[in-house]
Amino acid sequence: MPRVFVQGSPVGYYPRYTPEAGRGAVRRITEAGEEVLRRPCRDVTEFGPDLAALIDDMFRTMYVAEGAGLAANQVGVGLRLFVYDCLDDVGVRHVGHIVNPVLDTPTGERRLLEEGEGCLSVPGAVLDVPRPDRAVVRGQDRDGRPLVIEGTGYFARCLAHETDHTDGRLYLDRLSKRERKDALRQMRDRRDEVHARRSAREAAFGA
Ligand code: NI
Repeated sequence: MPRVFVQGSPVGYYPRYTPEAGRGAVRRITEAGEEVLRRPCRDVTEFGPDLAALIDDMFRTMYVAEGAGLAANQVGVGLRLFVYDCLDDVGVRHVGHIVNPVLDTPTGERRLLEEGEGCLSVPGAVLDVPRPDRAVVRGQDRDGRPLVIEGTGYFARCLAHETDHTDGRLYLDRLSKRERKDALRQMRDRRDEVHARRSAREAAFGA
């Protein structure tokens, strides 16, 4: 079994960080309460150097913030795409980006996993959220070629979570009122610490 899948295909070796991250710049991560996270994003219609540069920046921003996935509206750009670097339930690493993602509606038996979930736009908070244990996302790559990404376990969670972002939804929307309050309290308590850690990592990443 290959240990790494890039853009849905197995590869023999992959570096710790994507080449995109080496080219990109860190952008500010938007936070719960900002309008850009609440609006469904626009489809990407232009596939070119601007899109490629955005993907570079998103990878670097995600690594600096120690995330497993990042959607474009989390760096303030209201376009439908996300990047990811995430392990699945058997420890296989999945790395890539997908543009105009659509989550397949699962048919047949659906198993829900209740596991801790966080979001770079809700810094410092982690809460249990039920999600299907398998996810399939269809979309395109940065050159407009069709792409299908499939995941299990935590990677399935990541695919569902990031597609939610492109639809203008946060995982907070999937929580009860009481849990949402708890998440926002965790964010208040830990936000400064998370930001300090990101700043330190940003400096180290550039070195
Ligand atoms: Ni998120």
